[in-house]
Amino acid sequence: MSSKRDKLVIAVPKGRILHELMPLLRATGIEPEPAFYDDSVRQLRFATNSVDLDIVRVRSFDAATFVAFGAADLGVVGADVLMEFNYAEIYAPVDLGIGYCRLSVAEPEEMSGSDDPGTWSHIRVATKYPEITRRYFAQRGVQAECIKLSGAMELAPNLGLCRRIVDLVSSGDTLRANGLVEIEQIAEITSLLAINRTAWKTRPQKIGKLIEDFRKALAKARSTIETV
Ligand code: PRP
Repeated sequence: MSSKRDKLVIAVPKGRILHELMPLLRATGIEPEPAFYDDSVRQLRFATNSVDLDIVRVRSFDAATFVAFGAADLGVVGADVLMEFNYAEIYAPVDLGIGYCRLSVAEPEEMSGSDDPGTWSHIRVATKYPEITRRYFAQRGVQAECIKLSGAMELAPNLGLCRRIVDLVSSGDTLRANGLVEIEQIAEITSLLAINRTAWKTRPQKIGKLIEDFRKALAKARSTIETV
C-alpha cells in the first residue's frame, strides 16, 4: 500500500449517512474496493478505483477530526460537527444535501404543556453538542449547564440525569419511543464536503478536481429530480 503522502484520503462517516452517500460517491466516479462494503472485515483503510485516492470509514465526529488535522485530505462531515468544533483548518465548500435532520431541544411530553421557555434563566441539558447548546441559549440570556454524553441522550430525562436534551432528530421515532417531544429547533443539518485547507493549498489540482466532481454529480442529481 502506498503511503498517505502519495495518495489523497477521504474520510466518510459510518452508518446511516454512508447509505445516502454511496450513490453520490459513485456519481463522482469514486468506487471503493469490495472489502469496503463488508462489515466483517477489520481493515479500516481501503483503496478505490482511483490510484490517487484511498477511503476510510470512521465515526461522524471523527471524520471532521481526521480532516481538521490533515490525516485525511477531505471528508464528509455533518454541519452539526462543524458548528460544534468550528475547526479553522476545515473549509466546507459543498453542501451535499444528504443526512438531513434537525438539531433540537426536547423534553418529556408531560412537561411540555406547562413549560414556558421564556421563563428559563438556567437549564441543565444532556447533549453531544455542549458548545452549540451554550451559544444558542446564551444568545437569549439563558445559562445552559451541559452534561456531555456520546449517545443515547434520550435516556437522560428518563433516568433523572436532567429534564432536557439537545440532539439530532430525523424521523422523531427515538424521541417518541422515549416519551420526549421537540420543543425548539436550533438548526437544520445536512452533510458537507470538508477539505483540509493545507491539503488544498499543497495539492490544488487533485483536490479542486474532486470538488468539481462532487459539484457536477450534485447538479446532475438535482436536474434528474427536476425532470422526473
Ligand atoms: C441519532 C440521534 C438520535 C436519533 C434520531 O442517533 O442522536 O438518537 O439518531 O433519529 P430519529 O429521529 O430518526 O429517531 P444515531 O442513530 O445516529 O446514533 P448515535 O446515538 O450514535 O448518535
